[in-house]
Amino acid sequence: MATAIHSAAAPAVFPGDAETGNLFAANFDHRPFQFRHTLDSMNIFQMPALLKLAERCMRKRQLKSHYETGKPAVNGYFGSKPADMTLVQALERIGEGGNWIILKRIHEEPEYRAALELFISELSVLSGTDLRRRYRDPILTIFITSPNRITPYHLDGEANFLAQVQGSKSVFLYNAHDPRILTTEEMESYWTGHLLAPRWHDELSEGHWRYDISPGLGVFNPATFPHWVKNSNNVSVSVSINFKRVRNDEIGAYRANYYARKIGLHPTMPGRRSAVDRLKDLTFGKLYEGAYTARSALRSRFGV
Ligand SMILES: [Fe+2]
Repeated sequence: MATAIHSAAAPAVFPGDAETGNLFAANFDHRPFQFRHTLDSMNIFQMPALLKLAERCMRKRQLKSHYETGKPAVNGYFGSKPADMTLVQALERIGEGGNWIILKRIHEEPEYRAALELFISELSVLSGTDLRRRYRDPILTIFITSPNRITPYHLDGEANFLAQVQGSKSVFLYNAHDPRILTTEEMESYWTGHLLAPRWHDELSEGHWRYDISPGLGVFNPATFPHWVKNSNNVSVSVSINFKRVRNDEIGAYRANYYARKIGLHPTMPGRRSAVDRLKDLTFGKLYEGAYTARSALRSRFGV
């Protein structure tokens, strides 16, 4: 239900009218929808602030940001960092080349943390969901891309509010529940670390939904709905506010099924029997998560 959560002195970032509330409540976490916002009026998302932020990202969390240059195909994949260009240089030259920059986990900086907290509060009211309780690891990320640059087809495990703050671009989204788009085997493969598993579909190149977003507009991308993005002929700045569900038994079930299938079994598809999904998540799923966490910790500590 949409209610006013700000005083008149602090206008809402997302409109709090009943129509917007109904839109969020009906669609959040289920299907894509376009929304309005005022992130484009916030100084922390303007280019001078982003250049300073990029410098801080280089100093403090170099490995958490990524930048690349090139002209990938829509069914290609992301490239690697150019050796002769820093993150800040890539941003300074954003209007010239085919650069693609992601500044990750920027809410680790105080002013962006405050913004994220505000967004979570407002989005909780609009969606009728306590995002702090039902979702975990809320993240603020910024995408900055050169004119006409493509973000190749992929999917993400998080639910994502993508808010456009500069330039315009088109977002093409695909229904993750359409077996012609994503097979069970592709999902099993994705959730066991094969990020390239989702297969590109020439026959549906513009997806089930297309959203043309510009400053003040955004699109909600449900978790695992594949997508690709094409910039207009302008520099684009987009802010991503994304969350993971606290409890998502289907992920553990996909992981268990991936290995069950390898030994010749024909496991029950996730989503059909919630008790089976729960059991798989609590057993194999938790083992998988523990092993993944331990491996990540070893890698970051010893580089193995
Ligand atoms: Fe994405």
